[in-house]
Amino acid sequence: MKKDKFIIQSLDGQKKLSGEVKISGAKNAVLPIMASSVLFEDNFLMTNVPEIEDLNRMTEIFAGLGIKINKQSQGEYFIDPHGLNKFEIDEETSKRLRASVIFTGPLLARFGELIFPHPGGCVIGARPIDLFLDGFQKMGAKVQVRDDKYFVTAKDKKLQGANIFFKVQSVTATETFIMAGVLAEGETILKNVAMEPEIVSLVDFLNSCGANITGAGTPTIRIMGGNLLKSDGKVYQTIPDRIETGSFLILGALCAENLRVSNCEPKHLGILIELLKDSGVEIEVGQDYLNIINNKKQNSEFKSVSIKTHEYPGFPTDLQAPFVVYLTQVTGESLVFETIFEGRLNYTDNLKMMGADIKMWDAHRATIKGPNVLKGRELDGPDIRTGFAFVIAALIAKGESIINNVYYIDRGYENVEEKLRQLGVDIKRIN
Ligand code: UD1
Repeated sequence: MKKDKFIIQSLDGQKKLSGEVKISGAKNAVLPIMASSVLFEDNFLMTNVPEIEDLNRMTEIFAGLGIKINKQSQGEYFIDPHGLNKFEIDEETSKRLRASVIFTGPLLARFGELIFPHPGGCVIGARPIDLFLDGFQKMGAKVQVRDDKYFVTAKDKKLQGANIFFKVQSVTATETFIMAGVLAEGETILKNVAMEPEIVSLVDFLNSCGANITGAGTPTIRIMGGNLLKSDGKVYQTIPDRIETGSFLILGALCAENLRVSNCEPKHLGILIELLKDSGVEIEVGQDYLNIINNKKQNSEFKSVSIKTHEYPGFPTDLQAPFVVYLTQVTGESLVFETIFEGRLNYTDNLKMMGADIKMWDAHRATIKGPNVLKGRELDGPDIRTGFAFVIAALIAKGESIINNVYYIDRGYENVEEKLRQLGVDIKRIN
């Protein structure tokens, strides 16, 4: 693991940043599409792929399974599943990338067998996999646990279509069972599924390559099982990263006089735009851009708003940390209710040490009173999104800040320091 750090200079309380930031393709859209190659008999091209650390990890998983990924040019990758010959997910990589669990559904559907370790990833709460194990059993598979690994075997090596009601809405579980259903026998009906745009994008692509899936973007999805998919030269164009978009919009609200966030999909960020507007930020919403213009108000003129993280289209848990930084600068008291992951408010201790007035009520709820002047300090980002939140905190704080574990930011944000520098941020990477 690289041990890079960022050294960031404060903006001294001024809204000095301006310019344009072009949003990259969505990390959370690319990962399931890559995993879906297990369902294909031919190769396909993905474009607008973000060059991020998580992509390298996925490539490692692929190599282990016998799938080839060939880079064509910046952001363009061919995925070739012809050499796919394994149904075991490598332990080391899986520990480092929880998203590897996405592979479980398609591998089990394709081979009728699957071996995988308990998935790792960011340290944000317990992250169980009960939905996966229950669902596989509903589709007629047996699950055994030996040597800290799950051994899953489908009856007669073929998954059966099933009715699966998810006790909680899970993005990865929804995606993996959509893919499992594509090669299962008969119809699979998934209820109480996640409705994130990345799921709709996955389904659109699979359908364009021969799958028969309806209901993506609603709480019930139906999949009629069939044969291996064929791309016949179809290209997957990665949708814009809504979390990167939201992260820069929050940064812009606090730090930029003018900011154009381009190449994005504003429709995917309705809740954030609404809340920022409620708070007093003026945002121009275009077809594929968001503008913050003439943002001359002091941050203390913005008012507090409360948030509750929620499955899409509610407030994304991945924007909770950057938004809490925003709330430390606006006037009034806000309640932040993190409903998706426990442990995802622990980073607020760091903000408190910088001078924020935050009170934790339990693992899920905190109140933030603002505005407060923050002081720059050395910060350890515990996960991808908190890493970016600390960048924003460093910019609004007084003095210099050092952010350790930049590795986490690199996992999810493409070219982050270049993008920041172009807006006028004084940021250095030290390794
Ligand atoms: C995905 C996103 C991540 C985002 C999260 C929530 C990807 C690659 N990652 O993660 O960026 O933060 O959605 O929007 O798309 N759960 C169970 N049992 C299970 C699986 C999940 O109880 O078997 C629970 C989790 O503990 C959590 C909730 O379901 O409370 C939602 O998690 P989930 O949607 O699965 O998150 P990921 O798909 O891992």
